[in-house]
Amino acid sequence: MTKIADQTLQALIEAAIDARGRSYSPYSGHAVGAALLANDGEIYAGCNVENAAYPLGFCAEANAIGSMVKGGGTSIRHVVVLGPGDRMCTPCGGCRQQLNEFRGEGDVPVTLCDGNGSILMETTLDALLPHAFGPHNVKTAKGE
Ligand code: THU
Repeated sequence: MTKIADQTLQALIEAAIDARGRSYSPYSGHAVGAALLANDGEIYAGCNVENAAYPLGFCAEANAIGSMVKGGGTSIRHVVVLGPGDRMCTPCGGCRQQLNEFRGEGDVPVTLCDGNGSILMETTLDALLPHAFGPHNVKTAKGE
């Protein structure tokens, strides 16, 4: 797990704040922004997009992943997530699984910030999703 430069982390935080500002969350009022540093060196961001049919809403992390895949990134090197106010917005269970799909080799650092971008916690994907089920398990099951 490589530590990214402070400047890169700051750029990720800024991207997450910017994405959060575009959140469509009229039902929960809980605007979330996420930013990923991908293996191609690019930053991909996303916000949550809710729907009147509530279960159809998308989380910020999922949309950031979609942006990364479309942009050509194939694995995640660092994640930043931030929500409203001064409380942490930890990735939901589904997002932990979605992030795990693109973890590449090794653990992935996850930085959780408050709505202003102040860092509240530095953790990792392994800590958030221990004993994860991922692509490796499926390949093993298929005998690859
Ligand atoms: N949300 C995210 O975008 N990411 C998470 O990891 C947690 C929850 C969104 C989904 C919904 O639009 C709002 O926050 C309230 O749950």
